[in-house]
Amino acid sequence: MNTLDETDDISAKAHALTAAVIGHPIAHSRSPMIHNRWLAEEGLAGQYGVIDILPAALPAACDILRQSPMTGFNATLPHKEMLLDLCDEVDATARAIGAVNTVSVRDGRLYGTNTDAFGFMENLRQGAPEFDPAGKTALVLGAGGAARAVLFGLQAAGIGQILLLNRTRSKAEALAEAFPGVQVAEWAARQALLKDVQLLVNTTSLGMCGQPDLELDLGGVSPEALVTDLVYNPLQTSLLNHAAAKGCQTVTGLGMLVYQAQKAFEIWFGVRPAVTDELIKTLEDSL
Ligand code: ATR
Repeated sequence: MNTLDETDDISAKAHALTAAVIGHPIAHSRSPMIHNRWLAEEGLAGQYGVIDILPAALPAACDILRQSPMTGFNATLPHKEMLLDLCDEVDATARAIGAVNTVSVRDGRLYGTNTDAFGFMENLRQGAPEFDPAGKTALVLGAGGAARAVLFGLQAAGIGQILLLNRTRSKAEALAEAFPGVQVAEWAARQALLKDVQLLVNTTSLGMCGQPDLELDLGGVSPEALVTDLVYNPLQTSLLNHAAAKGCQTVTGLGMLVYQAQKAFEIWFGVRPAVTDELIKTLEDSL
């Protein structure tokens, strides 16, 4: 497809859809499944689709989206960071997370925010309602984009202490600079540190279908600790299986996807849609 065809295609979709997710690649996104169900349940007209946009085409695409009748759009890889500069306004949450995942289109302007931290925390609240982050110690594995949203969400919820570990230590150190109070420790020390934590979060891609497992001996972990994995395919990662075998409560990663979507839908349409067991089942079946 040449550039002109791509621009035409983006424009045609932006004029036919109410909302969409933009990314590259994007064909396998589950967001349409979630949002189209909610649009129907809430009796709202319109369609949520996918728009494939190459990174180089994003600035021109933003001009098209700005002038489109769309209510808003979500963004995923590789556009989340670039949108910080391309939106007309970006709120403090997106700035702190360093990425935009939800954009509202109003009066020819793009307003960016980020609902990933909400999604992460709401998933914990729903999956482990009795877990109160206040004063607790969390061990967070990984220092990529997902980790930023997790650190922001945990600090906003009043977590006591965060230990951040990443294979590439320098990335954890750079991330910790943006989140004062976060302590960086050696990746190799992850096993030894487990005994002191009440929350363990995997934000790395380890354990994802097609990736190696996160090899972590949970021998030292307290059965009182809560363990969550951002990986949701497979739903029950080996980390979660081992944690459950130790008696720990576990929360799967699928809910983060659902609750970040819930917040985006609420921002655009002014109603908080229901996260039903059927929706979760449909998503699980799609994995
Ligand atoms: P995301 O935006 O989803 O967080 P990312 O930015 O690509 O994705 O980050 C992937 C994370 O998984 C990183 O923390 C990465 O560690 P490095 O910074 O050292 O690359 C981590 N990761 C990926 N493969 C890994 C492996 N084999 N062992 C340990 N960590 C790994």
